[in-house]
Amino acid sequence: MSVTTETLTQLFPPDAAAIPEAWRLPEPLHQREYLLDGELREWAGPTQEVISPMFERQPDGTLKPRVIGSYPLLDEAEALKALDAAVRAYDHGRGEWPTMSVADRIAAVEKFTRLIVARKSEIVKLLLWEIGKSTADSEKEFDRTVDYIRNTIDALKDMDRDSSRFTITEGIIGQIRRSPLGVVLCMGPFNYPLNETFCMLIPALIMGNTVLFKPPKHGALLHYPLLQAFTEAFPKGVVNTVYGRGNTVVPALMASGKIDALGLIGSSRVADSLKKMHPKSNRLRAILGLDAKNAAIIMPDADLEVAVKEAVLGALSFNGQRCTALKMFLVHESIADDFVARLATEINKLKPGMPWDAGVNITPLPEPQKPAYLAEVIADAEAQGARVMNEGGGTASGPLVYPALLYPVKEGMKVWREEQFGPVVPVARFASTDEAIQYIIDSDHGQQVSIFGSESEEVASLVDQLVNQVSRVNINAQCQRGPDTFPFTGRKDSAEGTLSVYDALRSFSIRTVVATKMTDANKHLLNEIVDGQESSFLSTRFIL
Ligand code: G3H
Repeated sequence: MSVTTETLTQLFPPDAAAIPEAWRLPEPLHQREYLLDGELREWAGPTQEVISPMFERQPDGTLKPRVIGSYPLLDEAEALKALDAAVRAYDHGRGEWPTMSVADRIAAVEKFTRLIVARKSEIVKLLLWEIGKSTADSEKEFDRTVDYIRNTIDALKDMDRDSSRFTITEGIIGQIRRSPLGVVLCMGPFNYPLNETFCMLIPALIMGNTVLFKPPKHGALLHYPLLQAFTEAFPKGVVNTVYGRGNTVVPALMASGKIDALGLIGSSRVADSLKKMHPKSNRLRAILGLDAKNAAIIMPDADLEVAVKEAVLGALSFNGQRCTALKMFLVHESIADDFVARLATEINKLKPGMPWDAGVNITPLPEPQKPAYLAEVIADAEAQGARVMNEGGGTASGPLVYPALLYPVKEGMKVWREEQFGPVVPVARFASTDEAIQYIIDSDHGQQVSIFGSESEEVASLVDQLVNQVSRVNINAQCQRGPDTFPFTGRKDSAEGTLSVYDALRSFSIRTVVATKMTDANKHLLNEIVDGQESSFLSTRFIL
């Protein structure tokens, strides 16, 4: 199809009949409840209207924003009540949840998982409507989250089994386990509102912390069906929600000094300012997934078919709205024109449309200001000598933006350094490999890189230089977070701490030792405690 504003507009549904029945939203969801101290409370104050990126096409061909619901905008006082509830439930580590045995905490998380699996279709539908993720990817996000929870449980069982013994060294006998940190504030991003929130929230919970959880601005309603499950699966005050504008509800939480760990997937600017609000910086642990501008370096001997295929996936899956997306292509000058021509052809095979359309690749963007920002980035590059290389690239209708391939991109253009987080694909040329490496050295980001090449010595040399710049080097493959057992982190402004099924358990806990001298009296005492199953910590019970 030839891409024009009109053809893109025609992709928006004029009425409910144009939407497959399975994906229609019955009624707008006006959520007034929030979870505080084990109960769903009603909010009578202001609310945030939720506008879906799937606008309604009007008979005159204009697009009308579609309101699909609203959620509470709590104030500072309510956020502080949620904090008090989490602090009470933790009770300086003496609460029911932090002192519960690992087996019992696992049982609670298993119950929670069963409850949310039963609500899958509702959650996935809201996810799709709030952020415009395709049906397949929305379902994948849900399934991946459930797998992540199950794998977390397995990893914790392994960890606990390893700790179910005493260690004797130099006349000292000790037992080493991991203990919770305290109250954790979890904030996930809009692009993976379920998965990335739960990749922090579940490990934080299962390690015995109590949690305040703030849903992202876009991707908040989908958490509503989960609130009841939280109340049923966990003791009161263990999970509390803080709905509202970040700058209203979060500063007071941080300034209280009562947040022990901050789990945030978001921008480095926000993370930086939140950390500074904490009055006792040494007491705050931060587990952060932040900005990234992952580059692909394409060497002269790269298999261009593979490089182009991975480039499309890497740059444009979910419209480029992934922190791991490939956001800059550095291509050797000898193949750059060829690479760009092939990439333009492949990009133009991508199908724009609504998330429920079969085979759709490019869908409407949930951030209202994003189309204008992308237009600005494109205009800026064009003004400085780049061209849009694919037909129709950058054409937009409301929130739906057709991908733009920009070439040749140079230093000084906005897109050279800014994280576009959307369907704009910048390609720059390099003459010597050092120029490509220098781009990465000079970057404020250090999450991942992809290298495409076939000459082993060259690839090896790039690998050895790049592993000290970023946290994952992908060879002949796009950048990505998965598999979720792999460590996910970054250098510079890209991350703090490491997430993975296993690492997240470590990130949200601290090693703790109980030790004594090996005297007869102490041996007797330990035996009594263990035999009588008198302690959760001092225990040789083995989770089967
Ligand atoms: O937005 C960042 C996500 O963690 C990326 O995950 O690479 O699996 O899409 P992904």
